[in-house]
Amino acid sequence: MSKHGDEQAVEKNGQSFLEIQGLSKHFDSGGRRLTVLDDFSLSLARGEFLAIAGPSGSGKTTLLNLIAGLDRPDRGTIHLEERELTALDDKSWDQVRQSDIGFVFQFNQLLPEFSALENVMLPGMLKGRGQVELKNQAHELLSHMGMAERANHRPAQLSGGERQRTAIARALINQPKILLADEPTGSLDQTTGTQVFSLLLGLQKQLNISCLLVTHNPALADLCDRIHGIEKRPESPTRERIGVDDV
Ligand SMILES: Nc1ncnc2c1ncn2[C@@H]1O[C@H](COP(=O)(O)OP(=O)(O)OP(=O)(O)O)[C@@H](O)[C@H]1O
Ligand SMILES: [Mg+2]
Repeated sequence: MSKHGDEQAVEKNGQSFLEIQGLSKHFDSGGRRLTVLDDFSLSLARGEFLAIAGPSGSGKTTLLNLIAGLDRPDRGTIHLEERELTALDDKSWDQVRQSDIGFVFQFNQLLPEFSALENVMLPGMLKGRGQVELKNQAHELLSHMGMAERANHRPAQLSGGERQRTAIARALINQPKILLADEPTGSLDQTTGTQVFSLLLGLQKQLNISCLLVTHNPALADLCDRIHGIEKRPESPTRERIGVDDV
């Protein structure tokens, strides 16, 4: 499914920017074992925009959560530059997430009681950045996303597309090295989705941020540098259900 091979993700020094090797993750629920990722590997180059495509339930959100350290894999390694993220304790991974990783969630998860501007500023405030510089940058990012006129509105007063544009600005406020975007245009109509995607693509290239984008939309995936597919795996009964002696 790749437009180009993973070899494109290898930098001159022989290392890729993001390197995922042999990643496996399962969930047990209701007596069933669901292996979501099984020996999954992926390389991403610096500044590359990679689309992750696969059917619903194939593990795309799970993959992004594992990269962001919001969940832990059963097996496998994730390296960001020279650093092995999977070897970090929770506190160190929290720090990496705060400074190096921007996340756009599948459902934008803006805080309803704050304005768009405040939502964008929030990750910078948590990092202890100065208010004035932070506010200026938040305004700049919102302007880039065509949101200058709506900066003081709360999420409930914004359209779906405006909320997603706010969520993208929020993900970029701390100038992350990598942006993880989980279907940022999934809930939008075709025209608005394409507009929001184009704004994201423009900013990503301008800031030279690497991006992993989950999308179900083949037209948008085609605009990315490369497409990496994930396949859905069948469920199997857990050991408890089929009896340990049968295994
Ligand atoms: N915490 C959990 N406990 C049990 N099962 C889970 C858990 N999280 C995810 N799953 C299951 O793992 C599978 C993969 O979920 P995931 O959210 O990664 O899929 P996805 O590819 O992002 O799907 P979609 O395109 O619908 O967003 C699904 O079948 C889901 O029900
Ligand atoms: Mg998902």
